[in-house]
Amino acid sequence: MGKIKVGFIGLGKLGLDCAEVFAEHYEVRGYDPAQRISEAIKVCDVQEVIQDSDWIFIAVPTPHAEGYDGSIPSSHMEPRDFGHEAVIDAITKVNHYATTSKKVVLISTVLPGTTRKHFVTSLNNQHEFLYNPYLIAMGSVKWDMVNPEMIMIGTEDGNPNALAQELIDLYQPMMQNNPRYEIGTWDECEAIKIFYNTFISAKIGLANMIQDFAIRIGNINVDVVTNALARSTQRIMGPKYMTAGMGDAGACHPRDNIALRWLAEEYDIGYDMFDTIMQARELQARNLARFLIDQCNRYNLPIVIHGKAYKPDVPYCIGSYSTLVGYYIREHGLPVVYVDPLADDRDRCLDTIDGPAVFLWAHNRQITYDYTGTQEATRPYCEIQPGSVIVDPWRSVDQNLSGVTVLHYGNTRRS
Ligand SMILES: NC(=O)c1ccc[n+]([C@@H]2O[C@H](COP(=O)([O-])OP(=O)(O)OC[C@H]3O[C@@H](n4cnc5c(N)ncnc54)[C@H](O)[C@@H]3O)[C@@H](O)[C@H]2O)c1
Repeated sequence: MGKIKVGFIGLGKLGLDCAEVFAEHYEVRGYDPAQRISEAIKVCDVQEVIQDSDWIFIAVPTPHAEGYDGSIPSSHMEPRDFGHEAVIDAITKVNHYATTSKKVVLISTVLPGTTRKHFVTSLNNQHEFLYNPYLIAMGSVKWDMVNPEMIMIGTEDGNPNALAQELIDLYQPMMQNNPRYEIGTWDECEAIKIFYNTFISAKIGLANMIQDFAIRIGNINVDVVTNALARSTQRIMGPKYMTAGMGDAGACHPRDNIALRWLAEEYDIGYDMFDTIMQARELQARNLARFLIDQCNRYNLPIVIHGKAYKPDVPYCIGSYSTLVGYYIREHGLPVVYVDPLADDRDRCLDTIDGPAVFLWAHNRQITYDYTGTQEATRPYCEIQPGSVIVDPWRSVDQNLSGVTVLHYGNTRRS
């Protein structure tokens, strides 16, 4: 059996180095409209690349518009998507020149939803398609390629299909670090890739904000502060707080951020990240409230918030996110009640709920107290009558509960 044949469309900063890494194991052809020279791969016309390759990796640009690269101020400008023309062009060429079925792999970066909306619909259905963005940095492309933090493989329904396995097998001899494979829908992999980058931006933005405070306030070496935070592996540098659910709450966090808004103004920092964080928290609560209102209208049931204290097993309702969600429900003109045997604020708190209702499952003991070794799930604070709907923002309540509809808020996968 001859060597597996791999084709690259787009031999730029990413594509050329990656193609050359593939060439250590496979027969590689590549096409680029600009002149490219390589000793490791055969640079040829696009027709030959497509016709003579089993796999076709698309590594063309998905450019930002002029002035949107971050080297000049752009935050005041209208938000814009990346350009898709080069990807569509590459797909059109595959459709045009392919005489057999091809395994098409897109590695360019695009925003969540793009592949499903714009690309897959353009590819002839005799071909198979995966979305496989790379986490690669300039200056270390070849090393990053074979030592990735993870390899994301996006399929239509998020299941590891035969083609995804073939791609893993293709990478296997190339990789030096036995990488983690993350398989999801096209959209999930688009999201993992882009939010990976965004987490880095947010981290840098926060560290540099502390630097700004150090300069303005005095007597602060930013490194003392950021190193202490960097060594905080219990909560900050680790997977804790990476489960989407209810918002930040309690006696300290919301009010700390609210007070820091004052400090940012006092020292004329010039921007207010706390305001952005607090505003996002409020609008996330409003979105959740709207989701509950939709269910209330759909099922014609009243809304009950299950858990009023800011977290399970404590009485404290100070800074409670449940109350914030309740605020937005009431602002919409609908009544809301709470069930929580411990809550120290008994306003609108009931001990029993006599009929079916839409319940917001606000508390999750396992997620909140996981770090202490707690295994026990939250038990219902009242009887849940048949015909009820549970909206679970933590996505951990069993969806097969009899007589009750369980909606996992935040999971919009079809399967
Ligand atoms: N550079 C990186 O470190 C990096 C890392 C991860 C992801 N990415 C993503 O990979 C994609 C490519 O990035 P890059 O840095 O290699 O860009 P680039 O501009 O350096 O390279 C793109 C190449 O594609 C060629 N090209 C343009 N239009 C084409 C077309 N219609 N058909 C065929 N080839 C065409 C260009 O001539 C160029 O050589 C982007 O989506 C980028 O976001 C880049």
